[in-house]
Amino acid sequence: MQKGLVIWFTGLSGAGKTTIATEVEKLLSKQGLRVCMLDGDVLRQGINSDLGFSDEDRNENVRRAAEIAKLFCDKEFIVLVSFISPFAAMRERAGQIIGRHRFIEVYVKADINVCRERDPKNLYKKNIAQFTGISSAYEVPKKPDLILDTQLLSIEESANLVFEKIRNQYA
Ligand code: ADX
Repeated sequence: MQKGLVIWFTGLSGAGKTTIATEVEKLLSKQGLRVCMLDGDVLRQGINSDLGFSDEDRNENVRRAAEIAKLFCDKEFIVLVSFISPFAAMRERAGQIIGRHRFIEVYVKADINVCRERDPKNLYKKNIAQFTGISSAYEVPKKPDLILDTQLLSIEESANLVFEKIRNQYA
């Protein structure tokens, strides 16, 4: 039986968290593994629709995501979580909620100017208040379990690195 694991993708908006997580989901599903995706944008449309982008609301947003991830993890799912999760303390807390031994922090790295260039959701253009990396902080993970430099790696290469990391956990 597979064991529960949470892959926690953190990074700026436009860094590629959701895109890479979606590719990883495909790779895992092909292996017949049970996978669950939790995405910031999606949860904010439903269960977290009462939350905005103040530090306090982001903390609560991430706390809820961690609690949900824990429930799936307890049921032996591999949970792919993609939230900006900008603060080190909130990621630390997420790891504590889930259990550090089954929490893999993946930093999806891209320079703010590259994200601004990519701007897949046309958000950087809009000068949104409290925007991560612009008018709200992003604390780069000091010791992530994996760094994906999306300016050097293709989406497929990044997804494969995550897949390998997961496989190593089961070895
Ligand atoms: S988090 O900071 O609380 O972890 P989350 O991942 O849920 O953020 O949501 C980020 C997404 O919300 C972005 O990818 C973007 O689509 C949208 N968004 C809207 N306003 C902001 C903002 N002020 N800062 C960052 N992202 C925002």
